Amino acid sequence: MSGYLLAIDQGTTSSRVLLFRTDGTVVSQAQKEFPQYFPADGWVEHDAVQIWQDCLALCQQVLERSGVAATALAGIGITNQRETTVLWERASGQPLARAIVWQDRRTADRCAQLKQGGHEAMVQARTGLLLDPYFSASKLAWLLDDIPGARARAERGELAFGTIDSWLLWNLTGGAVHATDATNASRTLLFNIHEQRWDPELLALFDIPAALLPDVRDCAADYGRTLPTLLGAAVPVTGIAGDQQAALIGQACFSPGMVKSTYGTGCFMVVNTGREAIPSRHRLLTTVGYRLNGEVTYALEGSIFVAGAAIQWLRDGLRLISDASETEALARSVGSAKGVYMVPAFTGLGAPWWDPHARGALLGLTRDTGIAEVVTAGLEAVCYQSLDLLEAMVADGSTRPTALRVDGGMVVNNWLAQSLANILGVRVDRPQITETTALGAAYLAGLQAGVFESLEAIAQQWQRQSAFEPCLDEDDRRARHAGWREAVAMVCRR
Ligand code: G3P
Repeated sequence: MSGYLLAIDQGTTSSRVLLFRTDGTVVSQAQKEFPQYFPADGWVEHDAVQIWQDCLALCQQVLERSGVAATALAGIGITNQRETTVLWERASGQPLARAIVWQDRRTADRCAQLKQGGHEAMVQARTGLLLDPYFSASKLAWLLDDIPGARARAERGELAFGTIDSWLLWNLTGGAVHATDATNASRTLLFNIHEQRWDPELLALFDIPAALLPDVRDCAADYGRTLPTLLGAAVPVTGIAGDQQAALIGQACFSPGMVKSTYGTGCFMVVNTGREAIPSRHRLLTTVGYRLNGEVTYALEGSIFVAGAAIQWLRDGLRLISDASETEALARSVGSAKGVYMVPAFTGLGAPWWDPHARGALLGLTRDTGIAEVVTAGLEAVCYQSLDLLEAMVADGSTRPTALRVDGGMVVNNWLAQSLANILGVRVDRPQITETTALGAAYLAGLQAGVFESLEAIAQQWQRQSAFEPCLDEDDRRARHAGWREAVAMVCRR
């Protein structure tokens, strides 16, 4: 059996490739940030060709650096920023426009119209999602309306739609495979998560021709082989999952009630709900956690659009810090934000508020507010938003977890991890391997390739590196959360 697994982790601000041994340890990795395009207020775009070229170059680099030949790979796993919408021409493989990124709000009015038209209940019942511009359907409809002739061409089967996973797979296989997995499909607003198929009524609602759509497969499945010229051998692609679902797998949250939270550009808290798709009454998302051997494990998800992106803004926008790693010492120097609240609603607010028109705010400033308080408010905002999600999950019927498994770039910050535990009132567990998103993709690839026999074998590899126990007085915790809620109420119309 070939001994290595290659994971492509295509995120919102950077693309990464990691080579894993089958025990989950990293052999080699490479990463590249890429440009973000903001052509108008609330618009966010990516160059899909650049993303593909970067991912390919990173795969080549990682193999070269490690001295591992492509023939030694048991399989490739792909994980990706979800919802981001690519439309390309099948004949040339060229995108018709820049990809519209999940954060993009340009279709807010269209979604509001559909909501006013009374369609949200049907959409939520079938997809588990809400009528929000976050998801792919309204973005794809926008492209089909905006590009002259695109809808007619789509109807003739000349065009292909995909989230980033499909786009990368198409390119890896030289245009031979147009497919996606059930987790990515479940974020498009076009996929019926109960029947596990593209839903004709949803396609009609958004005016999307079915000929555009990729084939939907299990997360561990045969996705074809890479063109031999790309990596030096025809390597099987055997795993795909959206990044938050891949992190659920990388964190080995395989039993109902287990919850993970990933702190990257945004923050995504996902709880495994087992075979049951729990409809949310608190504006969380019901989604596919993973699908293996045709069997779906569902999840409830809370999505926050801005977490690490707030720190990026403090660094690049306000220039209060020159590196994210400075935030820990600054927060320690003041202990708390001292009544300063940052509501980082730069692209609206996600769960549980869902207000695409909300915009950010800094509140509670006094004459002695300094850089440290503002930076700390940015970190605390991540904690308060996490608490909002956890409370919504519990209110939706999920049992209060005994621990939250965390990962993502932000949680190397010990102050943040402790503060999360304090504000949530729940133990926070940080794993030994924090590359959980890429690891999850590698695990899926390994499952299909026969490297792992079962999810149990994967779960045995999970190890805790640090536990952060809550130690904040309950009254204090409540008072601070109440202050946060007041701040949110000032920017949000819900
Ligand atoms: O739903 C969007 C999410 O998949 C993006 O994740 O890690 O790129 O912020 P990330």
